[in-house]
Amino acid sequence: MQILTKPKKGAIELKASADGSFSAYSASFDECYHSLKDGALRESLYKHIIPAFSACENLREMRILDICFGLGYNTLASLYYRQIHSLPVNVRIYSPELDSSLLTNLIDFPYPEEFSKLPLREIVCALRDRGVYEDAHTYIEVQLIDARAYVREIPHQSIDVIYQDAFSPKKNPELWSEEYFAQLYRILTPNGILTTYSQSAAIRKNALACGFVVYDCTHNERLVRGGSVMSKCELALPHYHLKRILPQTP
Ligand SMILES: C[S@@+](CC[C@H](N)C(=O)[O-])C[C@H]1O[C@@H](n2cnc3c(N)ncnc32)[C@H](O)[C@@H]1O
Repeated sequence: MQILTKPKKGAIELKASADGSFSAYSASFDECYHSLKDGALRESLYKHIIPAFSACENLREMRILDICFGLGYNTLASLYYRQIHSLPVNVRIYSPELDSSLLTNLIDFPYPEEFSKLPLREIVCALRDRGVYEDAHTYIEVQLIDARAYVREIPHQSIDVIYQDAFSPKKNPELWSEEYFAQLYRILTPNGILTTYSQSAAIRKNALACGFVVYDCTHNERLVRGGSVMSKCELALPHYHLKRILPQTP
């Protein structure tokens, strides 16, 4: 891994990733925000956004929980995907984030060229200054709060999509526990979907224990490494191979 800039205090430490998009390294979690091997934009699109939008293609409003905001790729890639496919869907994105320095510094982040189709500066400035961005078809809120407390306040069955994109279970265990997954199950709509890069057996076990239907999820053309999708009912996703994970019998 190559450090591209000498980090200033409080600045984001950039990391180049395989698809040419930039991610970053978090010193406090000693981990990168994305898989540098898959690429930040590709990981976001192929592990989160495309499965989520495919599962929700009949909705005219999608309520998305983005755990957690980080560099904002999942939020921004959702708007990008909607725009390039001219999807007639309003999106409401709710995102908790612990690190208050991120929003201040994202104004200068070298986002991929794809995001230049979005009102990027307006979005980042609005989130930095007010924690909310709104236009005719979009609502985004970022709250500086522990995700566990944030999720506990979300009403039952009110979220269609959960991007479960915390740091790894080893570095960020509180956002992968069985207790936490029980909250995610509670807030997900009956036809909703949870997406995650994690393929960990222990994490899948926690999700299964809460009632989730759990699948290993691999893009048919293997454009990125696999992840998992979870739901409350059986799922089929075009362009993905889904393998149902069953609870291990003792
Ligand atoms: C892997 S990064 C998220 C990347 C992001 N989804 C993106 O697309 O750029 C994980 C993020 O979770 C935040 N985080 C970790 N634990 C948290 C917690 N308990 N509550 C809120 N945010 C947390 C970190 O500060 C970091 O920004």
